[in-house]
Amino acid sequence: MDHLISLNDLTLEEIEQILNLSEKLKKQQQEGVTHHYLKGKTLGMIFTKSSTRTRVSFEVGMYQLGGYALFLSSNDIQIGRGETIYDTAQVLSRYIDGIMIRTFAHSDVEDLAKYGNIPIINGLTDLMHPCQILADLFTVYEHKGTLKGLKMAYLGDGNNIANSLLHGCSKVGMDVAIGSPKGYQCDEQVISEAKEAAKISGSNIILTEDPVEAIKDADVVYTDTWVSMGQESEKQSRIKIFEPYKVDGNLFAKAKEDAIFLHCLPAYRGYEVTEEIIDGSQSVVFDEAENRLHVQKAIMALLMDK
Ligand code: CP
Ligand code: NVA
Repeated sequence: MDHLISLNDLTLEEIEQILNLSEKLKKQQQEGVTHHYLKGKTLGMIFTKSSTRTRVSFEVGMYQLGGYALFLSSNDIQIGRGETIYDTAQVLSRYIDGIMIRTFAHSDVEDLAKYGNIPIINGLTDLMHPCQILADLFTVYEHKGTLKGLKMAYLGDGNNIANSLLHGCSKVGMDVAIGSPKGYQCDEQVISEAKEAAKISGSNIILTEDPVEAIKDADVVYTDTWVSMGQESEKQSRIKIFEPYKVDGNLFAKAKEDAIFLHCLPAYRGYEVTEEIIDGSQSVVFDEAENRLHVQKAIMALLMDK
């Protein structure tokens, strides 16, 4: 594993390695045991979109690992004024030991990896959010004790979260159902990669426009905003289209009785999920947010401790 750009690039063994190290690092953190895997190492964090969780968890995670993190807003670095990815990758590779980038075009992240010679971590693109989904799998494992054989239901926009969920669940052998309206389904290439992975893991992939079919008997129910960063001008039309996919008490009741609720956050209560569900007893969204820290520390340690 040289980079973390798409979950499709990881083997099941690599995913298990990340989750196992996450568990160990979480325990060490809770017990106050020093774990300076990245003493003296520096991570650059490039952001061309907003962030609360990703920014804070990477920065704090790097500090806890004994390293240092630099926040590089695209407004402040030359990339925002048109310096090429090639030059940026070459230059940053001379100063720092790894880059986490959050941006729009997925190809920019791939190009950074291609032109630089340090590990690149995808902190969200329009297409994928692999760090989020690794934290989600870890959270499901903590609450359910297993991944294989469970059913994950995602309702709403076939966006970056849904795409990475398809990749992640199909690798670890979880059944995954995506309920999304016509025209807002997951990326075609991601779907075909997930179907390939499912052949090996035995996971079952359901792609449907019917929210009830998607959520039926699910062990885990997941949703995300209907309006991702960069889609603000489509807000009004999206709110109408996605209404039937709102996770409310009625829809959630179709999942298994002991289903847990996940949301990557930020959440928009009253739109993709009602307060009753996200603030209810089956919601584990803050455990999920916390686990971004532990899982990303594992990812950085595995990629940068070389
Ligand atoms: N879930 C997530 O990536 O949150 P931020 O946008 O706050 O980083
Ligand atoms: N789909 C959302 C996820 C935010 C973490 C977005 O891209 O804005």
